[in-house]
Amino acid sequence: MTRPAFWVGPWPIAGRVILAPMDGVTDPPFRGLGRMLGSAIAYTEFIHAVDILQRPGWVWQRLRLRAWERPVFVQIYGHTVNMLVAAAQRVQEVGPAAVDINMGCPDPRIAGRGAGAGLLRTPIKVARLFRRLRRALDIPVTAKIRLGWDETCRNHRLIARVLEESGAALIAVHGRTRAQGYRGRADWDAIAEVVDAVSVPVVANGDVRRAADIARLLRHTRAAAVMIGRGAMDNPWLLQGRDREDVPRTEVWAVLRAHLQANLAHYGPERGLVLFRKFAARYLAPYGLTRAARRALLTTTDVGAFLRRAWEHLGRPDPPPVG
Ligand SMILES: Cc1cc2nc3c(=O)[nH]c(=O)nc-3n(C[C@H](O)[C@H](O)[C@H](O)COP(=O)(O)O)c2cc1C
Repeated sequence: MTRPAFWVGPWPIAGRVILAPMDGVTDPPFRGLGRMLGSAIAYTEFIHAVDILQRPGWVWQRLRLRAWERPVFVQIYGHTVNMLVAAAQRVQEVGPAAVDINMGCPDPRIAGRGAGAGLLRTPIKVARLFRRLRRALDIPVTAKIRLGWDETCRNHRLIARVLEESGAALIAVHGRTRAQGYRGRADWDAIAEVVDAVSVPVVANGDVRRAADIARLLRHTRAAAVMIGRGAMDNPWLLQGRDREDVPRTEVWAVLRAHLQANLAHYGPERGLVLFRKFAARYLAPYGLTRAARRALLTTTDVGAFLRRAWEHLGRPDPPPVG
């Protein structure tokens, strides 16, 4: 075996590029694709601790972890220590490599109640939470943070130290404050400050759009790995270090079909196709998808017709769709 890039608790991690957790995006089919293309870890979408405790059937359906996705980090959010600890214990039963605590979500309905990025305002609660999690779980506990609540409270170094001291095994840092949302540029200098502040692996996140950005961000921050969100939605091959224009149409076609197939298998034919539409639009966007063609493609409810349209749009690459 080649030497791991870094370790998360007992787990060797092979690779320095990671697909970011994204609600409505990093579902099992896209996570599987991400791993296939080179994401070193599969993060789930965030899941509310209350749902884990009160809707077990729904949660276990979402958390059927597959062999090819592993290592999987299941991300959860919530605002009470007791609830998060109880939810993490339940999550541990499905066999993830780690439980990740979301400390970055800026949504006022979440952050405003003290969950997600709201946790950044309460370092003492963070310490209590992670100490309790460490004691309650046998697997590593990790965190995904932002730089702080807003410009007046950029406490990323403090939070990172608290996390490390309280037992977090890895810290992913999105280089924006809660107030910034997704606007402005990610502050890579601030991510480097977190790397300097702690000795656990730090994952640098924010604004990786081109293949060259991966090495730039690694160099700039000396982080253990980079995490890619929106860039990988538009171009999943970024996880392999490839820009979109370097991916031939035959490969786009192969991945589009495999991804659709995985969606249909996971969600069933109707929902699988509907949920695939947002990905299809992105796969085909670089080939001049007109509004009319986009509408025709994205309203098709028949899988065969959908594939044929996508194939036509891609300039009829080999092999043609069957049927
Ligand atoms: C549609 C969408 C959903 C997201 N959902 C989550 C989530 O569930 N958990 C999380 O920690 N971050 C979530 N994020 C934030 C990303 O993980 C990432 O931190 C952010 O997009 C910045 O990285 P980027 O510039 O590479 O996109 C989400 C982002 C987007 C765009």
